[in-house]
Amino acid sequence: MSAPESAPLHTIDLIRKKRDGGSLDAREIEFMVSGAASGSIPLEQLSAWLMAAFLRGLSLDETRALTLAMRDSGEKFSPARLGKVAVDKHSTGGVGDKTSFLVAPIAAACGLCVPMISGRALGHTGGTLDKLEAIPGYRTALTLSEFETVLAGCGAAIVSQTPALVPADRVLYALRDRTGTVECAGLLCSSILSKKLAEGLDALVLDVKTGSGAFLRDRKDAEHLAALMVATAEAAGTRTVALMTDMSQPLGRRSGNWIELAESVELLRGQRPAGSEDLRELSLILAGWMIALGGQAATPELGYARAEAALADGSALSVFFKMIEAQGGDASVFDDPASFHKPGATQVLEAWESGFVFEMDTTALGWAVQRLGAGREKAGEPVDPHAGIEFHARRGVRVERGDPLATMYATNEAMLAEPVALLRQAIRIEAAQPNAVQLVSRIFTRETAEGFLKDSY
Ligand code: URA
Repeated sequence: MSAPESAPLHTIDLIRKKRDGGSLDAREIEFMVSGAASGSIPLEQLSAWLMAAFLRGLSLDETRALTLAMRDSGEKFSPARLGKVAVDKHSTGGVGDKTSFLVAPIAAACGLCVPMISGRALGHTGGTLDKLEAIPGYRTALTLSEFETVLAGCGAAIVSQTPALVPADRVLYALRDRTGTVECAGLLCSSILSKKLAEGLDALVLDVKTGSGAFLRDRKDAEHLAALMVATAEAAGTRTVALMTDMSQPLGRRSGNWIELAESVELLRGQRPAGSEDLRELSLILAGWMIALGGQAATPELGYARAEAALADGSALSVFFKMIEAQGGDASVFDDPASFHKPGATQVLEAWESGFVFEMDTTALGWAVQRLGAGREKAGEPVDPHAGIEFHARRGVRVERGDPLATMYATNEAMLAEPVALLRQAIRIEAAQPNAVQLVSRIFTRETAEGFLKDSY
């Protein structure tokens, strides 16, 4: 039961209500969210409430109310006065997922405005902001007016939540990372969409991961998340599609901070390195959807062709470097990416038997990357820009005993042992070749999302 409109609310009552399986109404949710944003609710109470929400789940109404309250917890951006259609993309998290560094400059080079608010490393997945901060000088915490200036000059900006911009997500995101409360559809949906809806977008493309490296590993749960996000964003007035994409192995061949940026810049330079094919393909598909929803192409397929042209003619690369400089970064580090890469310790893991790389526990691979130094144990800790893993063999590839499977880069020698053990457990080599997995397995639009949700609540 909800408290009468005029009755005062108490955090402890709302924690107990959620703990006992109740549903919070919009006023109760707004109370928790404004307490998170202002700091008036202590972190231990927010943590307890997050764990209660994680264990009990959030209803459709609670998820919608939480999303809107988090969106409204700070200032909102209005891209309309920049005179361009504003479109963004967000991935639900993955290992080696660096598509943002490709799709943002590609879409901007195709005439769109991409005001991207991103996150840091979360659970086993890397964070776009941590990766960008590997570039000396790059600032992610911009004021709203700095954000607008970068967008006006470059067409794309990639920034963080701040005490002014989606402050509730800034607090709750970092808390979820260290309280084991990441993998919950309602919390994922509200975190992602609060940022995207605060950007004032005309359209949004969501990349919802499936497979062993996804936050929601069960296929039905991932479909539910995709449908939930599309329906919630559409109900808030933003045209949205969700593509369900493969995360049964890391995307591209590198996972870490600096090394992911270096891989992205190779593709932006028009190179086609072996092992990065899926990254290039997915980035073009996502950018194609952004370009089509943004009205710069009649279909996603024609959008794909425009995206490919923006890679080929170097216009996306120019946008990326211009954006880096506009956000205070030194893009000259990309003149010689290999010499900038200075890991504290390196170890090559060799195949322990011959056969096909059959299966990967991609979540475990993500934890290995984090524990090499690329992620943090406590909120606010610095991350090592040079830590990470380069994978030399993809799923389905045949390896001979002794072939290099992966090169690990750690902050120091002592940090190599646990990731080595994780990788040995996470990669299965078998005599049989595995079945191929589709890169994009399903697409949700407003209509299909609403139909799906009708059957699940
Ligand atoms: N990205 C976000 O912004 N939030 C999440 O909870 C997961 C991925």
